[in-house]
Amino acid sequence: MSHQDGLSRRAHWAGGETIASLLMAKTLAQPELVSLAAGFVDQQSLPVELTRRALEAIWSDPERAWAGLQYGTTIGYPPLREAILERMLGADGRTPGELNVSAEQVVVTAGSNQLLFLVGDMLLDPDDIVICGAPSYFVFLGTLGNMGARAIGIEIDQHGLIPNAVEDQLARLESAGELGRVKMFYVTSYYDNPSGVTIPAERRAALVEIAKRWSRRSNIYIIEDAAYRELRYYGEDTPSLRAFDPEGDTVIHTGTFSKSFSPGIRVGWGILPRRLLGPVLAEKGNLDFGSPNLNQLLMTTVMELGLFDEHLKVLRDSYRKKIDAMLRAADELLGPIDGIQWVRPTGGLYVWLRLPEGIDTGLSSPLFDRAVKEGVLYVPGEYCYPSNVHRPRKNMLRLSFGIQSCESLRRGVDSLARAIRQVL
Ligand SMILES: Cc1ncc(COP(=O)(O)O)c(C=O)c1O
Repeated sequence: MSHQDGLSRRAHWAGGETIASLLMAKTLAQPELVSLAAGFVDQQSLPVELTRRALEAIWSDPERAWAGLQYGTTIGYPPLREAILERMLGADGRTPGELNVSAEQVVVTAGSNQLLFLVGDMLLDPDDIVICGAPSYFVFLGTLGNMGARAIGIEIDQHGLIPNAVEDQLARLESAGELGRVKMFYVTSYYDNPSGVTIPAERRAALVEIAKRWSRRSNIYIIEDAAYRELRYYGEDTPSLRAFDPEGDTVIHTGTFSKSFSPGIRVGWGILPRRLLGPVLAEKGNLDFGSPNLNQLLMTTVMELGLFDEHLKVLRDSYRKKIDAMLRAADELLGPIDGIQWVRPTGGLYVWLRLPEGIDTGLSSPLFDRAVKEGVLYVPGEYCYPSNVHRPRKNMLRLSFGIQSCESLRRGVDSLARAIRQVL
């Protein structure tokens, strides 16, 4: 199909204005609003001093300074790729041999969003299928739309994607002759955006086993998006989905320093099955032949000097206070309103609220309007649902506790509670 405006099909699939820019416009128009919408990290805790120290270490070593100011390679700076792999294996308690992995499979990208885009673009033809949670990370849903792919959302529970429900969906697709179209599952395995849930170990193992067993018509991969793994405030870490893939041919593991250190530095990565390395690097070569090298040297130096772990401690302490404040305010101010539910996340940046059936949270809903008048912004849940969901829930919303102070979080939740009471 051609369009008279001369734009490509992809330009049309890319969609119109994003929810992020719509909400940003509201915030600019009314700066006194408490935004519980933006998924940004806390401004005050950004590692200004630590970054200065790491940069100084780079500038004081001419070899490093030259390297940082020069082009790098498409795949990324080797010491950084080794450090990333070592960290993942350490957290998972696995050896490279146990997971059939080496640093040759680590690709550094401009944020993990670039990795998600590259992998999607290399695996998906128009109408191909991605199975994901309903809800899911809305930026990736946009990316999939951009590619003309179909995201099929499956209802989640407090432990994320339900393996039996995934299998039921695969069986339905097989009956419809569409199994060969299923290219991947997409999961945010730690403190999901937006649902806040973390997939437990047994489910991780089950999902990997299902992807392998159903890879009959074509390979089914799992993109494991571990963007929030380091933002753990309570409880123990869980081994990644990659840790349950000893052959290393199913899970595409992606991570980022955006949440754990700084989103402005824009360094993310993927640990890829060997089969995907060639295509992803070929596309990345065509796109940018390597992510900014100075930023990669900076993150390497940050890790070598022990500044990353130092920062994580500070960050976890700061966000732990915020999540406590947010959940306390929710308990006290939203708890008394009948029919509101939320899962208590132990990490990440989000609390996903379910309002009583019949309350619409959408941008043009009375609730959204009341909330803005009361002085608070949230992300309407409908943006987090893939378009192929049988019945997207209208009564969900996402709150972020990243950028606001504990006092503002309470004020924001109070405003939201007032708005909800008004529309009930
Ligand atoms: C689930 C998830 N994945 C990936 C990203 C992308 O982060 P970046 O591209 O900054 O690494 C985000 C950012 O909000 C996210 O929430």
